[in-house]
Amino acid sequence: MRILILGGTTQASDLARALATRADVEPLLSLAGRTQNPTPAPIPCRVGGFGGVEGLATFLRDHQFDALIDATHPFAAQISANARAASAASGVPLLVFSRPAWAPNEGDDWSEVGGVAEAVAALGAKPRRVFLTHGRLQLAAFAAAPQHFYLVRAIDRPEELRLLPHHKFISARGPFTLEGERDIMRAERIEFLVSKNSGGGATAAKLVAARELKIPVVLIARPQAEGAEEAARLADVLDWIEAHRPAP
Ligand SMILES: NC(=O)c1ccc[n+]([C@@H]2O[C@H](COP(=O)([O-])OP(=O)(O)OC[C@H]3O[C@@H](n4cnc5c(N)ncnc54)[C@H](OP(=O)(O)O)[C@@H]3O)[C@@H](O)[C@H]2O)c1
Repeated sequence: MRILILGGTTQASDLARALATRADVEPLLSLAGRTQNPTPAPIPCRVGGFGGVEGLATFLRDHQFDALIDATHPFAAQISANARAASAASGVPLLVFSRPAWAPNEGDDWSEVGGVAEAVAALGAKPRRVFLTHGRLQLAAFAAAPQHFYLVRAIDRPEELRLLPHHKFISARGPFTLEGERDIMRAERIEFLVSKNSGGGATAAKLVAARELKIPVVLIARPQAEGAEEAARLADVLDWIEAHRPAP
């Protein structure tokens, strides 16, 4: 059974590991190519865009895939929309392997905002020490509030850093520990945390650390995706794969 996995996430890596030693599946992991040194994959991997919906549908047909699993990040809206359309066009069944959004717990001080521009506004006029963990995309929006100090954490150094007059960059790849998150926030005297509502366990420790240290969190809500079958647990994805195994 040939399975194309759209990746770039912990979910995709977990699925790749689960399929790596199986003789009855031929998985291929696809990465966009945004990260310079991605974690080595335990299954065959290709890198780069497909060329829109048509390119992905052609790729699915030409390589005779039996299933498509969209395990991309919840904020990667374009590739997920492409996956839905390419599945419909090619007839290759699609499953979205997604993580549930984070929900506040008692003691959390969260403001949910609709996008990065709103996140910038939520920081207010007074200069603050802000921890940006939303990734390197759309960093330039924070240039509109140059009064703040930004601690920026991403895997690769973002070009847009030069637009932020007061900043410090940390290159790091999750998962992150609670102890580590607490230490960073304390050492940098963080007053605001900005994050996407990515969900999942790998990067949730920062939210617990913020709760403990009574740091307000500005959480960017996910784009809406609809119209595809979804699973949140690896076991359910493996069951779905079995259910879509082509007849011998
Ligand atoms: N957005 C985030 O916050 C975020 C966070 C962590 C990881 N990531 C990962 O980083 C990648 C890029 O994210 P993005 O937000 O830039 O995506 P996006 O805006 O949804 O996608 C833009 C284009 O990048 C190509 N692409 C994206 N993911 C791909 C994949 N897995 N394999 C092959 N091509 C892919 C596609 O090009 P073509 O149209 O040419 O096919 C797509 O149209 C995704 O794979 C995602 O899982 C994203």
